[in-house]
Amino acid sequence: MSLWTEKRRILITCARGTPAILAGELQSLRFPVRSSLETAVETGGTLADTLRLNLSLRTAQRILCLFDAFPAGQAQDLYRRLVKLPWEEVIAADGYLSITSSVNTAAVNDTRFANVKTKDAIVDRIREKEGRRPDSGPGRHGAVVHLHWEQDRCEVWLDTSGEPLSRRGYRKIPLEAPMQETLAAAVILATGWDGKAPLVNPMCGSGTLAIEGALIALKRAPGVLRQNFGFMHLLGFDRSVFEKQREDLKKAALRKTAGPIVATDIRPEAVEAARQNARTAGVEHLIEFRACDFRETAVPDGEGVVILNPEYGERMGNVRALEEIYKEIGDFFKSRCMGYRGYIFTGNLDLAKKVGLRTKRRIPFYNGPIECRLLEYELYRGSRKVSTEG
Ligand SMILES: C[S@@+](CC[C@H](N)C(=O)[O-])C[C@H]1O[C@@H](n2cnc3c(N)ncnc32)[C@H](O)[C@@H]1O
Repeated sequence: MSLWTEKRRILITCARGTPAILAGELQSLRFPVRSSLETAVETGGTLADTLRLNLSLRTAQRILCLFDAFPAGQAQDLYRRLVKLPWEEVIAADGYLSITSSVNTAAVNDTRFANVKTKDAIVDRIREKEGRRPDSGPGRHGAVVHLHWEQDRCEVWLDTSGEPLSRRGYRKIPLEAPMQETLAAAVILATGWDGKAPLVNPMCGSGTLAIEGALIALKRAPGVLRQNFGFMHLLGFDRSVFEKQREDLKKAALRKTAGPIVATDIRPEAVEAARQNARTAGVEHLIEFRACDFRETAVPDGEGVVILNPEYGERMGNVRALEEIYKEIGDFFKSRCMGYRGYIFTGNLDLAKKVGLRTKRRIPFYNGPIECRLLEYELYRGSRKVSTEG
Protein backbone atom coordinates (compact mmCIF):
# COMPACT_ATOMS: atom_id res chain seq x y z
CA MET A 1 0.00 0.00 0.00
CA SER A 2 1.51 3.32 -1.07
CA LEU A 3 0.68 5.03 2.23
CA TRP A 4 3.20 2.74 3.94
CA THR A 5 5.82 2.35 1.23
CA GLU A 6 6.07 5.79 -0.38
CA LYS A 7 9.02 7.99 0.65
CA ARG A 8 7.90 11.03 2.64
CA ARG A 9 9.28 13.81 4.78
CA ILE A 10 9.65 12.71 8.39
CA LEU A 11 9.93 15.36 11.10
CA ILE A 12 11.15 14.26 14.52
CA THR A 13 10.60 16.64 17.41
CA CYS A 14 12.82 16.79 20.49
CA ALA A 15 13.63 19.04 23.46
CA ARG A 16 15.40 22.34 22.77
CA GLY A 17 19.14 21.86 22.94
CA THR A 18 19.01 18.23 21.80
CA PRO A 19 18.69 18.21 17.94
CA ALA A 20 22.41 17.50 17.50
CA ILE A 21 22.13 14.43 19.74
CA LEU A 22 19.00 13.28 17.91
CA ALA A 23 20.77 13.81 14.57
CA GLY A 24 23.60 11.56 15.80
CA GLU A 25 21.08 8.86 16.73
CA LEU A 26 19.46 9.09 13.27
CA GLN A 27 22.81 8.77 11.54
CA SER A 28 23.66 5.66 13.51
CA LEU A 29 20.33 4.18 12.35
CA ARG A 30 21.40 5.15 8.80
CA PHE A 31 18.71 7.74 8.23
CA PRO A 32 19.68 10.98 6.45
CA VAL A 33 19.63 14.26 8.38
CA ARG A 34 17.99 16.71 5.97
CA SER A 35 17.82 19.68 8.33
CA SER A 36 18.09 20.56 11.99
CA LEU A 37 15.69 23.03 13.60
CA GLU A 38 15.50 24.36 17.15
CA THR A 39 13.30 21.53 18.44
CA ALA A 40 13.26 19.03 15.57
CA VAL A 41 15.29 17.19 12.98
CA GLU A 42 13.99 16.35 9.52
CA THR A 43 14.75 13.07 7.81
CA GLY A 44 13.06 11.06 5.06
CA GLY A 45 11.61 7.59 4.75
CA THR A 46 8.41 5.61 4.55
CA LEU A 47 5.59 5.34 7.06
CA ALA A 48 6.83 1.76 7.60
CA ASP A 49 10.23 3.19 8.67
CA THR A 50 8.57 5.05 11.53
CA LEU A 51 8.06 1.74 13.38
CA ARG A 52 11.79 1.31 13.85
CA LEU A 53 12.32 5.01 14.56
CA ASN A 54 9.63 5.01 17.27
CA LEU A 55 11.09 1.89 18.88
CA SER A 56 14.74 2.93 18.68
CA LEU A 57 15.21 6.68 19.10
CA ARG A 58 16.07 7.72 22.66
CA THR A 59 15.83 11.49 22.37
CA ALA A 60 12.84 11.84 20.01
CA GLN A 61 9.57 13.22 21.34
CA ARG A 62 7.18 12.77 18.38
CA ILE A 63 7.75 11.28 14.95
CA LEU A 64 5.64 12.96 12.27
CA CYS A 65 5.20 11.68 8.73
CA LEU A 66 3.98 14.17 6.13
CA PHE A 67 0.53 13.42 4.72
CA ASP A 68 -0.01 16.53 2.61
CA ALA A 69 0.91 20.21 2.29
CA PHE A 70 -0.97 23.04 0.56
CA PRO A 71 -1.26 26.82 0.48
CA ALA A 72 -3.94 28.29 2.79
CA GLY A 73 -4.18 32.06 3.09
CA GLN A 74 -7.78 32.18 4.37
CA ALA A 75 -9.62 30.40 7.17
CA GLN A 76 -11.97 28.62 4.74
CA ASP A 77 -9.02 27.21 2.72
CA LEU A 78 -8.24 24.79 5.53
CA TYR A 79 -11.53 22.84 5.45
CA ARG A 80 -11.84 23.13 1.66
CA ARG A 81 -8.42 21.52 1.10
CA LEU A 82 -8.54 18.97 3.91
CA VAL A 83 -11.94 17.52 2.98
CA LYS A 84 -10.54 16.56 -0.44
CA LEU A 85 -7.78 14.36 1.02
CA PRO A 86 -8.34 10.57 1.10
CA TRP A 87 -8.67 10.24 4.89
CA GLU A 88 -10.75 7.08 4.48
CA GLU A 89 -7.52 5.36 3.35
CA VAL A 90 -5.72 6.37 6.55
CA ILE A 91 -8.15 6.44 9.47
CA ALA A 92 -10.75 3.78 10.26
CA ALA A 93 -14.39 4.90 10.35
CA ASP A 94 -14.75 3.12 13.70
CA GLY A 95 -11.41 4.46 15.03
CA TYR A 96 -10.56 7.35 17.34
CA LEU A 97 -9.01 10.60 16.15
CA SER A 98 -7.24 13.44 17.88
CA ILE A 99 -5.88 16.67 16.37
CA THR A 100 -2.87 18.65 17.57
CA SER A 101 -1.63 21.83 15.95
CA SER A 102 0.87 24.64 15.82
CA VAL A 103 -0.69 27.65 14.17
CA ASN A 104 1.02 30.91 13.28
CA THR A 105 -1.02 32.64 10.59
CA ALA A 106 -3.03 35.81 10.14
CA ALA A 107 -5.80 33.66 8.60
CA VAL A 108 -7.07 32.56 12.04
CA ASN A 109 -6.52 33.92 15.51
CA ASP A 110 -7.70 30.89 17.47
CA THR A 111 -5.85 27.58 17.40
CA ARG A 112 -9.03 25.82 18.56
CA PHE A 113 -10.79 26.98 15.39
CA ALA A 114 -8.06 25.35 13.27
CA ASN A 115 -8.29 22.14 15.30
CA VAL A 116 -12.07 21.94 15.00
CA LYS A 117 -12.01 22.66 11.26
CA THR A 118 -9.36 19.99 10.74
CA LYS A 119 -11.35 17.43 12.73
CA ASP A 120 -14.59 18.38 10.89
CA ALA A 121 -12.97 18.01 7.48
CA ILE A 122 -11.53 14.57 8.32
CA VAL A 123 -14.69 13.13 9.88
CA ASP A 124 -16.97 14.65 7.18
CA ARG A 125 -14.83 13.06 4.50
CA ILE A 126 -14.85 9.65 6.20
CA ARG A 127 -18.58 9.83 6.86
CA GLU A 128 -19.23 10.66 3.22
CA LYS A 129 -17.12 7.75 1.97
CA GLU A 130 -17.86 5.13 4.64
CA GLY A 131 -21.26 6.09 6.05
CA ARG A 132 -19.78 6.28 9.58
CA ARG A 133 -17.31 8.60 11.28
CA PRO A 134 -14.53 8.07 13.83
CA ASP A 135 -14.90 9.34 17.40
CA SER A 136 -12.69 12.27 18.27
CA GLY A 137 -11.34 13.95 21.38
CA PRO A 138 -8.16 15.17 23.08
CA GLY A 139 -6.73 11.74 24.09
CA ARG A 140 -3.70 10.71 22.06
CA HIS A 141 -4.36 6.96 22.29
CA GLY A 142 -5.73 6.59 18.74
CA ALA A 143 -4.85 8.17 15.39
CA VAL A 144 -3.25 11.60 15.82
CA VAL A 145 -3.10 14.21 13.04
CA HIS A 146 -0.87 17.25 13.49
CA LEU A 147 -1.61 20.50 11.66
CA HIS A 148 1.26 22.92 11.14
CA TRP A 149 -0.04 26.22 9.72
CA GLU A 150 2.68 28.80 9.20
CA GLN A 151 1.68 32.03 7.40
CA ASP A 152 -0.12 30.88 4.25
CA ARG A 153 1.12 27.30 4.14
CA CYS A 154 -0.40 24.26 5.83
CA GLU A 155 1.32 20.96 6.46
CA VAL A 156 -0.69 17.99 7.66
CA TRP A 157 1.33 15.32 9.44
CA LEU A 158 0.46 11.87 10.74
CA ASP A 159 1.79 11.66 14.31
CA THR A 160 3.14 8.12 14.34
CA SER A 161 4.02 8.31 18.05
CA GLY A 162 0.67 9.37 19.54
CA GLU A 163 1.57 9.76 23.20
CA PRO A 164 4.97 11.50 23.41
CA LEU A 165 7.89 9.07 23.28
CA SER A 166 9.19 10.35 26.63
CA ARG A 167 6.44 8.17 28.11
CA ARG A 168 8.44 4.99 27.86
CA GLY A 169 6.08 3.08 30.14
CA TYR A 170 8.48 2.30 33.00
CA ARG A 171 8.02 5.32 35.24
CA LYS A 172 5.03 4.32 37.32
CA ILE A 173 6.22 6.37 40.31
CA PRO A 174 7.46 9.78 39.10
CA LEU A 175 7.98 11.66 42.44
CA GLU A 176 8.42 15.43 42.18
CA ALA A 177 10.62 17.19 39.59
CA PRO A 178 11.50 14.08 37.57
CA MET A 179 13.55 14.55 34.46
CA GLN A 180 11.81 13.55 31.23
CA GLU A 181 13.06 10.20 30.01
CA THR A 182 14.09 11.60 26.62
CA LEU A 183 16.02 14.45 28.27
CA ALA A 184 17.75 12.02 30.64
CA ALA A 185 18.79 9.91 27.64
CA ALA A 186 20.13 13.03 25.87
CA VAL A 187 22.11 13.97 28.99
CA ILE A 188 23.69 10.52 29.28
CA LEU A 189 24.51 10.49 25.55
CA ALA A 190 26.09 13.95 25.92
CA THR A 191 28.45 12.60 28.59
CA GLY A 192 29.69 10.01 26.09
CA TRP A 193 29.28 7.23 28.68
CA ASP A 194 29.25 3.92 26.82
CA GLY A 195 28.48 1.39 29.53
CA LYS A 196 32.04 0.12 29.84
CA ALA A 197 33.01 2.19 32.91
CA PRO A 198 31.01 2.82 36.12
CA LEU A 199 28.10 5.29 36.09
CA VAL A 200 27.41 6.86 39.47
CA ASN A 201 24.20 8.83 40.04
CA PRO A 202 23.76 10.30 43.52
CA MET A 203 20.49 12.29 44.04
CA CYS A 204 18.83 9.80 41.65
CA GLY A 205 15.22 10.78 42.50
CA SER A 206 12.93 8.49 40.50
CA GLY A 207 15.99 6.96 38.81
CA THR A 208 15.52 8.31 35.29
CA LEU A 209 19.23 8.97 34.58
CA ALA A 210 20.32 5.59 35.94
CA ILE A 211 17.56 3.73 34.06
CA GLU A 212 18.25 5.52 30.77
CA GLY A 213 21.95 4.82 31.36
CA ALA A 214 21.20 1.11 31.77
CA LEU A 215 19.11 1.06 28.57
CA ILE A 216 21.93 2.79 26.67
CA ALA A 217 24.56 0.40 28.07
CA LEU A 218 22.44 -2.60 27.06
CA LYS A 219 21.87 -1.03 23.63
CA ARG A 220 18.22 -1.75 24.34
CA ALA A 221 15.67 0.05 22.18
CA PRO A 222 13.76 2.32 24.58
CA GLY A 223 10.36 1.80 22.93
CA VAL A 224 10.09 -1.97 23.29
CA LEU A 225 8.05 -1.69 26.50
CA ARG A 226 5.42 0.60 25.04
CA GLN A 227 2.11 -1.00 24.15
CA ASN A 228 0.68 1.82 22.07
CA PHE A 229 1.94 4.06 19.27
CA GLY A 230 0.07 6.37 16.90
CA PHE A 231 1.02 4.29 13.82
CA MET A 232 -0.94 1.32 15.20
CA HIS A 233 -4.15 3.26 14.49
CA LEU A 234 -3.45 3.99 10.84
CA LEU A 235 -5.09 1.76 8.22
CA GLY A 236 -2.72 -0.80 6.75
CA PHE A 237 -0.73 -1.20 9.97
CA ASP A 238 0.68 -4.72 10.02
CA ARG A 239 1.02 -5.96 13.60
CA SER A 240 3.13 -8.96 12.61
CA VAL A 241 5.77 -6.66 11.05
CA PHE A 242 5.80 -4.58 14.24
CA GLU A 243 6.10 -7.62 16.54
CA LYS A 244 8.95 -9.00 14.44
CA GLN A 245 10.83 -5.69 14.64
CA ARG A 246 10.25 -5.50 18.37
CA GLU A 247 11.49 -9.07 18.88
CA ASP A 248 14.57 -8.47 16.72
CA LEU A 249 15.42 -5.35 18.73
CA LYS A 250 14.93 -7.23 22.00
CA LYS A 251 17.25 -10.02 20.80
CA ALA A 252 19.92 -7.53 19.69
CA ALA A 253 20.17 -6.04 23.19
CA LEU A 254 23.01 -7.08 25.50
CA ARG A 255 22.17 -9.06 28.64
CA LYS A 256 24.42 -7.19 31.04
CA THR A 257 26.63 -4.14 31.23
CA ALA A 258 30.37 -4.10 31.81
CA GLY A 259 30.42 -1.06 34.10
CA PRO A 260 28.39 -1.02 37.31
CA ILE A 261 25.61 1.57 37.75
CA VAL A 262 25.17 3.09 41.20
CA ALA A 263 22.09 5.15 42.13
CA THR A 264 21.54 6.75 45.54
CA ASP A 265 19.21 9.31 47.10
CA ILE A 266 18.83 10.62 50.62
CA ARG A 267 15.11 9.78 50.68
CA PRO A 268 14.37 6.05 51.06
CA GLU A 269 11.02 6.52 49.28
CA ALA A 270 12.84 7.96 46.25
CA VAL A 271 15.19 4.97 46.17
CA GLU A 272 12.21 2.61 46.44
CA ALA A 273 10.43 4.41 43.57
CA ALA A 274 13.61 4.33 41.47
CA ARG A 275 14.01 0.62 42.17
CA GLN A 276 10.42 -0.12 41.13
CA ASN A 277 10.76 1.97 37.98
CA ALA A 278 13.97 0.10 37.14
CA ARG A 279 12.16 -3.21 37.74
CA THR A 280 9.40 -2.18 35.31
CA ALA A 281 12.09 -1.22 32.80
CA GLY A 282 13.75 -4.63 33.29
CA VAL A 283 17.07 -3.16 34.46
CA GLU A 284 16.78 -3.39 38.26
CA HIS A 285 19.47 -6.11 38.40
CA LEU A 286 21.98 -3.75 36.74
CA ILE A 287 21.68 -0.89 39.23
CA GLU A 288 23.04 -0.84 42.78
CA PHE A 289 20.56 1.22 44.80
CA ARG A 290 21.19 2.70 48.21
CA ALA A 291 19.45 5.27 50.39
CA CYS A 292 22.15 7.68 51.59
CA ASP A 293 23.38 11.24 51.48
CA PHE A 294 25.20 11.94 48.21
CA ARG A 295 28.46 12.37 50.16
CA GLU A 296 28.20 8.74 51.34
CA THR A 297 27.81 7.27 47.85
CA ALA A 298 30.33 4.48 47.28
CA VAL A 299 32.23 5.40 44.11
CA PRO A 300 33.94 2.41 42.43
CA ASP A 301 37.70 2.80 41.96
CA GLY A 302 39.11 3.76 38.59
CA GLU A 303 37.61 5.91 35.89
CA GLY A 304 33.94 6.53 35.21
CA VAL A 305 31.14 9.05 35.04
CA VAL A 306 29.46 10.63 38.06
CA ILE A 307 26.36 12.70 37.42
CA LEU A 308 24.10 14.68 39.75
CA ASN A 309 20.84 16.51 39.10
CA PRO A 310 20.42 18.56 42.29
CA GLU A 311 17.42 20.81 42.94
CA TYR A 312 17.84 24.32 41.54
CA GLY A 313 15.68 26.12 44.12
CA GLU A 314 12.99 28.61 43.29
CA ARG A 315 12.61 30.43 46.64
CA MET A 316 15.43 32.44 48.23
CA GLY A 317 15.44 30.46 51.47
CA ASN A 318 15.96 27.32 49.45
CA VAL A 319 18.75 28.86 47.42
CA ARG A 320 20.82 29.57 50.56
CA ALA A 321 20.65 25.93 51.65
CA LEU A 322 21.40 24.82 48.12
CA GLU A 323 24.53 26.98 47.91
CA GLU A 324 26.02 24.80 50.61
CA ILE A 325 24.93 21.62 48.79
CA TYR A 326 26.56 22.76 45.52
CA LYS A 327 29.77 23.62 47.36
CA GLU A 328 29.75 20.17 48.92
CA ILE A 329 29.19 18.54 45.54
CA GLY A 330 32.49 20.18 44.54
CA ASP A 331 34.13 18.75 47.66
CA PHE A 332 32.62 15.30 46.93
CA PHE A 333 34.00 15.41 43.38
CA LYS A 334 37.48 16.34 44.65
CA SER A 335 37.66 13.92 47.54
CA ARG A 336 35.76 10.87 46.25
CA CYS A 337 35.60 10.95 42.45
CA MET A 338 39.19 11.35 41.31
CA GLY A 339 39.78 9.80 37.89
CA TYR A 340 36.10 10.35 36.96
CA ARG A 341 34.36 12.82 34.68
CA GLY A 342 31.92 14.70 36.91
CA TYR A 343 28.64 16.21 35.64
CA ILE A 344 26.04 18.47 37.21
CA PHE A 345 22.73 19.11 35.46
CA THR A 346 21.25 22.33 36.77
CA GLY A 347 18.98 25.21 35.85
CA ASN A 348 20.73 27.65 38.18
CA LEU A 349 24.12 28.87 37.03
CA ASP A 350 24.67 31.04 40.12
CA LEU A 351 24.43 27.95 42.28
CA ALA A 352 26.78 26.13 39.92
CA LYS A 353 29.48 28.73 40.68
CA LYS A 354 29.54 27.44 44.26
CA VAL A 355 30.95 24.10 43.08
CA GLY A 356 34.35 25.80 42.94
CA LEU A 357 35.85 23.65 40.18
CA ARG A 358 36.77 24.69 36.67
CA THR A 359 34.23 23.46 34.11
CA LYS A 360 35.62 21.71 31.07
CA ARG A 361 32.38 22.00 29.08
CA ARG A 362 29.05 23.72 29.66
CA ILE A 363 26.49 21.99 27.46
CA PRO A 364 23.20 23.89 27.01
CA PHE A 365 19.91 22.07 27.58
CA TYR A 366 16.32 23.02 28.36
CA ASN A 367 14.18 21.33 30.97
CA GLY A 368 10.80 22.42 29.59
CA PRO A 369 11.08 26.23 29.47
CA ILE A 370 14.00 26.40 31.93
CA GLU A 371 17.41 27.00 30.41
CA CYS A 372 19.81 24.50 31.95
CA ARG A 373 23.42 23.44 31.64
CA LEU A 374 25.15 20.12 31.85
CA LEU A 375 28.45 21.12 33.47
CA GLU A 376 31.40 18.84 32.91
CA TYR A 377 34.35 18.63 35.28
CA GLU A 378 37.50 16.66 34.56
CA LEU A 379 38.50 15.22 37.93
CA TYR A 380 42.12 14.34 37.28
CA ARG A 381 43.86 12.31 39.89
CA GLY A 382 46.11 14.53 42.00
CA SER A 383 44.58 17.70 40.59
CA ARG A 384 43.12 20.12 43.08
CA LYS A 385 42.70 23.02 40.70
CA VAL A 386 40.04 25.28 42.15
CA SER A 387 38.64 28.35 40.47
CA THR A 388 35.62 30.55 41.01
CA GLU A 389 34.41 29.95 37.47
CA GLY A 390 31.01 28.18 37.47
C1 LIG B 1 15.84 17.24 41.12
S1 LIG B 1 15.67 15.75 42.02
C2 LIG B 1 16.38 14.56 40.92
C3 LIG B 1 15.39 14.11 39.90
C4 LIG B 1 15.85 12.93 39.09
N1 LIG B 1 16.83 13.32 38.07
C5 LIG B 1 14.64 12.23 38.43
O1 LIG B 1 14.61 12.11 37.20
O2 LIG B 1 13.73 11.85 39.16
C6 LIG B 1 16.90 15.91 43.28
C7 LIG B 1 16.99 14.72 44.23
O3 LIG B 1 18.07 14.97 45.14
C8 LIG B 1 17.74 14.36 46.38
N2 LIG B 1 18.58 14.97 47.44
C9 LIG B 1 18.46 16.20 47.99
N3 LIG B 1 19.44 16.41 48.90
C10 LIG B 1 20.21 15.28 48.93
C11 LIG B 1 21.37 14.88 49.65
N4 LIG B 1 21.94 15.68 50.55
N5 LIG B 1 21.89 13.68 49.39
C12 LIG B 1 21.31 12.84 48.48
N6 LIG B 1 20.20 13.16 47.77
C13 LIG B 1 19.65 14.36 48.00
C14 LIG B 1 16.26 14.60 46.54
O4 LIG B 1 15.69 13.64 47.42
C15 LIG B 1 15.75 14.49 45.08
O5 LIG B 1 15.26 13.18 44.84
